[in-house]
Amino acid sequence: MAKLIFLVAPLLVLVNVFNSHAGFAPNIIVDIAQIVIDNYCSPEKLAGMKEAIKAAGSNTEVLNIPDAETLANVLSAGVQTTVSDPRLMVSYEPNYVPVVAPKMPPLPPDQVIAVLQTSIKLDILEGNIGYLRIDHILGEEIADKVGPLLLDLVWNKILPTSALIFDLRYTSSGDISGIPYIVSYFTDSESPIHIDTVYDRPSNTSTKLSSISALLGERYNITKPLVILTSKNTKGIAEDVAYCLQNLERATIVGEKTAGGSVKVDKIKVGDTDFYVTVPTAKSINPITGSTWEVTGVTPDVEVNAEDALATAIKILHLRAQVPAIIEGSAALIADNYAFEDIGADVAEKLKGLLANGEYSKVVSMEGLEVQLSADLKTLSGDKSLKTTSNTPALPPMDYSPEMFIELIKVSFQTDVYENNIGYLRFDMFGDFEEVKAIAQIIVEHVWNKVVHTDALIVDLRNNIGGPTTAIAGFCSYFFDADKQIVLDKLYDRPSRTTTELRTLPELTGSRYGSKKSLIMLTSRATAGAAEEFVYIMKKHGRAMIVGETTAGASHPPKTFAVGESGIFLGIPTVHSDTAAGPAWEGAGVAPHIPVPADAALETAKGIFNKHFAEQK
Ligand SMILES: *[C@@H]1O[C@H](CO)[C@@H](O)[C@H](O)[C@H]1NC(C)=O
Ligand SMILES: *[C@@H]1O[C@H](CO)[C@@H](O)[C@H](O)[C@H]1NC(C)=O
Repeated sequence: MAKLIFLVAPLLVLVNVFNSHAGFAPNIIVDIAQIVIDNYCSPEKLAGMKEAIKAAGSNTEVLNIPDAETLANVLSAGVQTTVSDPRLMVSYEPNYVPVVAPKMPPLPPDQVIAVLQTSIKLDILEGNIGYLRIDHILGEEIADKVGPLLLDLVWNKILPTSALIFDLRYTSSGDISGIPYIVSYFTDSESPIHIDTVYDRPSNTSTKLSSISALLGERYNITKPLVILTSKNTKGIAEDVAYCLQNLERATIVGEKTAGGSVKVDKIKVGDTDFYVTVPTAKSINPITGSTWEVTGVTPDVEVNAEDALATAIKILHLRAQVPAIIEGSAALIADNYAFEDIGADVAEKLKGLLANGEYSKVVSMEGLEVQLSADLKTLSGDKSLKTTSNTPALPPMDYSPEMFIELIKVSFQTDVYENNIGYLRFDMFGDFEEVKAIAQIIVEHVWNKVVHTDALIVDLRNNIGGPTTAIAGFCSYFFDADKQIVLDKLYDRPSRTTTELRTLPELTGSRYGSKKSLIMLTSRATAGAAEEFVYIMKKHGRAMIVGETTAGASHPPKTFAVGESGIFLGIPTVHSDTAAGPAWEGAGVAPHIPVPADAALETAKGIFNKHFAEQK
């Protein structure tokens, strides 16, 4: 009953406006409603309408609207509101001549060619990209007749292209029976694919559309890219074709959201009046989405204005042509340079496997490709440092004045001395050896000398995110003695396939802390890269007690490699720590001796030292 109110209420409002004499046949509303009930594609949306008509039939006031076109508009609005479908329309067209179903005219072949040439445009663009524009989708009957011609004039020229742009921006008409043909030329022949179900209301039947196994001519190889162009004028059957191929993941749609039309619309005469009801009489249900493009339209994968769609498609196809070289180039760089040789070879193979499986065939932008490649590298290697990166050149060394250096160092390091003469040193990043060497004297004066004479030291690396590893040997050396050189770690360099020993330095700026005084290092999940190498060495040599959380499990600092001329760069860790006695810290992190939450680590460390010194007294 609720529907009644919607149908009648908008009509009644207008009755008061057109308060007049003339009159239309009183049963017109009943007739229109009956046409909708018998023909509208979604009968479930019409529940309760029968009762609505009965009531509306007795309301004749609306029929006093004086002119027929206004009445048609009022009735349109009423029907659209009742069924909530903007495609339903009532029109007044005294001069309407129904379109006879287009029969293939018995034209001589050269005239058929001329007709086809005006409705089909074909071009081969730079890079062997085919371009095909079809403004009307032919039905089976006509296609059967002109098939051999189409094959000869159009399709056989498209087949040898490397990629295809299929332009449906101007396609607003077509025949349902053409859908399986078009879709089949772009899919695999082996197994018929269920591509669409069309429910036809007048006959109350559902028809499954499936791809066709026997086609005239060859199919467009499914490994070749297909881009469909759309506009807001792409309508009806063309929307169905675009939606099918998009959901089969065969085509990338570029352009505007489509019209949201109908798979079939009929214009039905109301009794013997000159009023017509336009009704969607069939509807499409896609088997993949269980939904439809009708009313809402097809949403493009890449949304751009219709006039920019072709240029965008060309750009995407040029990018896709480069993808194999980019992925293979990345695989080669990783195989040749990744620190862990076996993993590098495995990642390279698997990456090529993803390429062969078509995992990169949907790429639409360089940025998207980088994101996808990065995610795959991380998944395949388990190493978060192996990824795509930007190639920002290192900033040239700043020309600091000595005063600025001192300021910089004061903010970069934090020191304190607690009760029992316990020192505290915090720094959040490692510097490069050459740079540190140049300012070593300043660091010693303004930082190191504040803690070097303490009886025990807490080194806080909870916020240390790493940096170059070149200064680590030097920094470690302060915690060992001068008389004996120690091999701190053995570093394997994959590109050169050489192992170098990292040793303590015999000479240092300033005095050493030495090997005897107690040392605690604080760690967190954020402690990464060079800081992990430092913790790993000190733990391995039994030189420090580690308090806090297991470290990040990052890697030695990655090197940047260009992937050919593509503009893509990879960050690849090329060096790993000594694994002779089992895995080092990369990937897994360094576990603390005393696991406590990072927040509690400093208090825990102080407690350990205070207890130690209290016992000594
Ligand atoms: C349509 O057909 C189904 C059975 O296929 C039937 O249950 C239903 O009542 C029919 N609907 C109409 C309006 O005839
Ligand atoms: C499609 O192209 C691929 C790659 O070039 C090729 O291996 C395959 O045989 C082709 N398929 C058909 C059906 O021609």
